[in-house]
Amino acid sequence: MIQIMKANDSHVKGISSVCIRAYWATYGETHSKEWIEKVIRVYNRARILREVSESNRDWGGYFVAIENGKVVGAAGGGMIDEEIGELFVIYADPDRRNEGIGSGLLNTITKQQKEEYGAQSQWVFIQKGNMKGIPFYKSKGFKFQSENIPKVYPEFPARIKLRYSREV
Ligand SMILES: CC(C)(COP(=O)(O)OP(=O)(O)OC[C@H]1O[C@@H](n2cnc3c(N)ncnc32)[C@H](O)[C@@H]1OP(=O)(O)O)[C@@H](O)C(=O)NCCC(=O)NCCS
Repeated sequence: MIQIMKANDSHVKGISSVCIRAYWATYGETHSKEWIEKVIRVYNRARILREVSESNRDWGGYFVAIENGKVVGAAGGGMIDEEIGELFVIYADPDRRNEGIGSGLLNTITKQQKEEYGAQSQWVFIQKGNMKGIPFYKSKGFKFQSENIPKVYPEFPARIKLRYSREV
C-alpha cells in the first residue's frame, strides 16, 4: 500500500533519488546532458534536508509517497499570493507512473493549501512539450493560461514554460 505523508529527515535520500531519476526520465530525450546535470544539482541531499525541515506558508514542506519504507514519489508547494497556491515540484518514481502516486501527492498538497492557507486557486509552471506532465495536470482540471518565453535562452525551445491553473 502506498501512503502519503509529510517528509522528514529519513526521506531525504529517497526524495533526492526520485527527483533525479524522474528528471532524467522526463527530459533525457529533449534536453542536453549538460543542462540536466546542472538542473538536478538542486536535488542535492543538503538542500533537501533543509527543505524537509521547513514548513510555512511560502514552502509547505515536502510530501512523500511511501511504499514498504521506500520513497516512490515526492512533491511540494507553497502560497504565492493571499489566495493562490502553487505546486513547485512533483515527481513519481519513473517506473511507477500512472498508479495514482501523483494524484495522492497533489490531493494532499491541495488540502494543505486550502485548509491551512486559504487557497482558492492553484498554479503550476510546466515546461512546454513535457508530455509526462501536461496530461496529468489536464486530467486534474488545470487550464492553460500563458506561455512564458525565457529571456536568457530564447533560442532553446525546451526552456519555454507554460502556466496552468485551476480553482481549488
Ligand atoms: C506528473 C506525475 C507526477 C504524475 O504522477 P502519476 O503518479 O504518474 O499520476 P497518477 O497516476 O496519479 O495520475 C495520472 C492521471 O493523469 C492522467 N494521465 C497521465 N498521463 C497521461 C497521458 N499521457 N494521457 C492522458 N492522461 C494521462 C491519468 O489518466 C490520470 O488521471 P485520473 O486521475 O483522472 O485517472 C508523474 O507522471 C511524473 O513524475 N512525471 C514526470 C515528471 C513531471 O513531469 N513532473 C511535473 C512537472 S514538475
